[in-house]
Amino acid sequence: MVTLDKVFTSQASPNIALIKYWGKRDEKLILPCNSSLSITLSSDTVNTITSIIFSKRLKEDSIFIDGKRQEIHDKETRERLQILEQMREDSGTDARFLAVSKNNFPAASGMASSASGIAALVYSANAALGLGLGARELSIMARQGSGSACRSIFGGLVLWRKGRLADGSDSYAEQLFDEKYWPEITDIIVIVSKGRKKMPSRAGMRQTVETNPLYSVRASSAEARISKASDAYKKRDFNMLAEQIMADSNEFHALAMSTRPPIRYLSGTSFAIMDMIEELNREAGENIAAYTFDAGPNAHIITQQGYQDEILHALGRTCTKDKTEIRIAGVGTCPRMLAGASLIDERKMVPK
Ligand code: PMV
Repeated sequence: MVTLDKVFTSQASPNIALIKYWGKRDEKLILPCNSSLSITLSSDTVNTITSIIFSKRLKEDSIFIDGKRQEIHDKETRERLQILEQMREDSGTDARFLAVSKNNFPAASGMASSASGIAALVYSANAALGLGLGARELSIMARQGSGSACRSIFGGLVLWRKGRLADGSDSYAEQLFDEKYWPEITDIIVIVSKGRKKMPSRAGMRQTVETNPLYSVRASSAEARISKASDAYKKRDFNMLAEQIMADSNEFHALAMSTRPPIRYLSGTSFAIMDMIEELNREAGENIAAYTFDAGPNAHIITQQGYQDEILHALGRTCTKDKTEIRIAGVGTCPRMLAGASLIDERKMVPK
């Protein structure tokens, strides 16, 4: 049952793709050309909190992200918010909503704020609208807001199956191993730039699919890597896992760069970090760390807790000239409802 005039708040974490999604077979439903594999990051380090209220007293729908009111009629925001329209319709109410979202990390900088943002939004809306959707249905819903968001509905190591059906009902994420399976796994996030992405992933993917002849090999190479990487995770074989992670990041960026016109997400600092990790691995005689980069220059260095200090030390030498910020995340859980953390003034129906 729908609960009007009451704020519902949830928290979700971003995820980092170890084997990346890039390219859609259906733009509207957000159906990917290849499956992808990610780990959800721990919410104590990176999270999005989203509050939502539905009320007949509200004159219009509105959404605030990090204190800024979003242009609801802007094409991308409208597309993303279609899921809320659908959820509202399914619940049978026509009440307007106010949603307020806060990230504790820079949004739109290749840090996947859309993943945690959309995951928290569908989580809170599901509760407010009393839809009672289960994790799989929430994942399908989140996918239609932003592809990678479907993976943030689960904790641990998560697989997003690309699916085959035209209606997208078999394209959802599922947990392969929970957050406790390999607790030593650590992501050292090096925020090289807090700026917005040069090329948003939606447009970048479309450009790649349309212009890049190399794209035809991507689907099969990603599927093969997913099976090797999940097998390595199962065996807790870091050396093998790291090999797959770095190969996939490199393939993704080679693909972006060979798109017309070329898409370059990496900066000089990103390449310096790659050199540094390769050097550390060479010295160790095996992979002790792996780099991976999404659609931006920020590095995610995946390692095991025991190597954290050594890597931080090496980073200190590599990034001295840059104003980099470092966050360290472990493997995180699925989203959760938060009591008493509302971002909305319930009485006045405005952001706090
Ligand atoms: O779901 P989107 O539109 O944020 O695209 C995600 C694309 C990558 O981050 C580069 C890869 C991935 O699988 O997360």
